Amino acid sequence: MVPEYGTEQEKFWAGTFGDEYIGRNQGKEVAAANLAFFSRILERTQSVRSAIEFGANIGLNLEALRALIPNIELSAIEINQKAVEELGKLGGIKIYPQSILDFQPDSPRDLVLIKGVLIHIDPTRLGQVYDLLYRTSNRYICIAEYYNPSPVEVPYRGNREKLFKRDFAGEMLDRFPILRLVDYAFAYHRDVNFPQDDLTWFLLEKTAN
Ligand SMILES: C[S@@+](CC[C@H](N)C(=O)[O-])C[C@H]1O[C@@H](n2cnc3c(N)ncnc32)[C@H](O)[C@@H]1O
Repeated sequence: MVPEYGTEQEKFWAGTFGDEYIGRNQGKEVAAANLAFFSRILERTQSVRSAIEFGANIGLNLEALRALIPNIELSAIEINQKAVEELGKLGGIKIYPQSILDFQPDSPRDLVLIKGVLIHIDPTRLGQVYDLLYRTSNRYICIAEYYNPSPVEVPYRGNREKLFKRDFAGEMLDRFPILRLVDYAFAYHRDVNFPQDDLTWFLLEKTAN
């Protein structure tokens, strides 16, 4: 049975666009760039033993986390069924095959990751997602998205209302004063060794419970 989704953005990612995204975004170069990307972030953390990715696609980020922290307990939330099937093939990942907007936090994880996904969420639902990221984290939240100081919408591969940039991390810091900014950096698409898709990452930490 095909689930009903409340936003156009969820339908977009659950459908054909989401299926086709998978083929465009994989390969050994992506894996290598992800290793460099996450080693830079993880060196600012301590004692990360579990992680969950919101919008994990086929698990390329989770594979990098597992390579860097071999016994890490991994989980993934993913709306696209084809991506979920690929995630299942990796083995050892607890999968929530559903929309982030329907996710109910269970056990908190040391690290909560969201990369290239907040930009694709209906902006009117961002508050809910911020709350979910916060409630699911024991300690760290990593946000890696397209930054813009003020909210803007830009066309996404010819589609409207599917890509939004803003200061997601700043909005989290405003919403949850006990979060502290541990580190942040830009990852450029023209990096000669380890390119990323012009992402700005922010590592946040809960300073109390
Ligand atoms: C641009 S891709 C990024 C994938 C991965 N995070 C990465 O960095 O390679 C966006 C992913 O988020 C998923 N996604 C988008 N909206 C979602 C939602 N509401 N709930 C769960 N997954 C979602 C898409 O299906 C897709 O796998």
